[in-house]
Amino acid sequence: MGQAATSLRPARSAKSGALRGDIRIPGDKSISHRALLLGGLAAGETRISGLLEGDDVMRTGAAMQAMGATIRKQGDIWIINGVGNGCLLEPETALDFGNSGTGCRLAMGLVGPYDFTTTFTGDASLSGRPMQRVLDPLRLMGVQVTARPGDRLPVTLRGPRAPGPISYRVPMASAQVKSAVLFAGLNVPGTTTVIEPVPTRDHTERMLKGFGAELEVETAADGARTIRLQGRGRLEGQTVDVPGDPSSTAFPLVAALIVPGSDLTLRNVLMNPARTGLILTLQEMGADIEILDPRHSGGEDVADLRVRASELTGVTVPAGRAPSMIDEYPVLAIAAGFAKGETVMLGLEELRVKESDRLAAVASGLALNGVDCTEGCDWLSVRGRPDGKGLGAIARDAVVVTSLDHRIAMSFLVMGLASENPVMVDDCSIIATSFPEFMAIMAGIGAEITGQ
Ligand code: S3P
Repeated sequence: MGQAATSLRPARSAKSGALRGDIRIPGDKSISHRALLLGGLAAGETRISGLLEGDDVMRTGAAMQAMGATIRKQGDIWIINGVGNGCLLEPETALDFGNSGTGCRLAMGLVGPYDFTTTFTGDASLSGRPMQRVLDPLRLMGVQVTARPGDRLPVTLRGPRAPGPISYRVPMASAQVKSAVLFAGLNVPGTTTVIEPVPTRDHTERMLKGFGAELEVETAADGARTIRLQGRGRLEGQTVDVPGDPSSTAFPLVAALIVPGSDLTLRNVLMNPARTGLILTLQEMGADIEILDPRHSGGEDVADLRVRASELTGVTVPAGRAPSMIDEYPVLAIAAGFAKGETVMLGLEELRVKESDRLAAVASGLALNGVDCTEGCDWLSVRGRPDGKGLGAIARDAVVVTSLDHRIAMSFLVMGLASENPVMVDDCSIIATSFPEFMAIMAGIGAEITGQ
């Protein structure tokens, strides 16, 4: 499984005519990681269709190969032969997760309790991100951890002879932490319990059940979830059909809303309620988004979306909605830049520890391109310009710094499509981590985006 280039490639987007087309969005990144991790672990064959072939996901596949799984592609189907639960092999070299927090943290959980040594590395962005959130529960299970100060990568884990189950209350809204603890629990005898005060995406729970794990979820009146997993059970290979990624969908979707005259259909989009916060918010802002043919596919809700250019009005997005749209704030901020009035986004503390400090990156990119906004410690407010007048780069050197963050790059390239002046970003190569087809898909619907 390959790796993407890492040299910087500047890109520029310019005011475009109406965006039109009927497009299929590549597979969901969260589900793709989990399908490779569980397929590589489960006994027998797992067949995955619609797998996202972005660099992040390919690195998770490479890590599973390094721990004994075999992975091949036949036509459009990825075929995994897993090792069987509890039977991962010690990797001979460090596992390099590139830019991927999800791959790295979930794999730390999966392999942490094994009685062997595993080292995790990543690019400059991942090496600056906090790993303590995953290492703390692993330490409670008896895993020995060596890490750079501040619990940063490179991290080396060695599991104990006899790991013990834990009951763990996840201190922040994080599906990665929840999933890492559950994955660790797969190789620990007894019941591992995860308490999630704020519900986050539940792909891990759904998929674990699908692969045959004994797992139960209890939801309290206040929405808190208690998840109990029986360790050391048998997992069996499955067929997984990965739906389109709503987080990738967000870019052409917002582009169609802000470019006058646009009319775009987006097919096969994952509509898991833990992922649809952006659609809800945009609809509240007045977006014309039609949800067509809602259906079930592979244990998930899926639909097609028809999006037409719309006059947007600012709203206040409550903090409680953040987990269901955590990756979508950068592009929501772009939509807000073209909305009438003010949009206030609350509860954004987790944006500080994404691939970049996304709150700071969005605020400085908006300001650089003429948008009136205020950055708070955990909030952002944006006052929009519906006609796009005066927006975009005024100075020649007004280049958005993407800091190895794919979503910052894509968001600002979307901005330029409706701004009076072009928008420039310092790098578009990082987009390959999550949405390698972005440039081609956007060009196909009429977006004026060029990479140098
Ligand atoms: C993800 C969870 C979220 C999200 C990330 C994918 C997952 O991260 O931002 O892109 O697949 O579990 P956190 O768990 O840090 O919120």
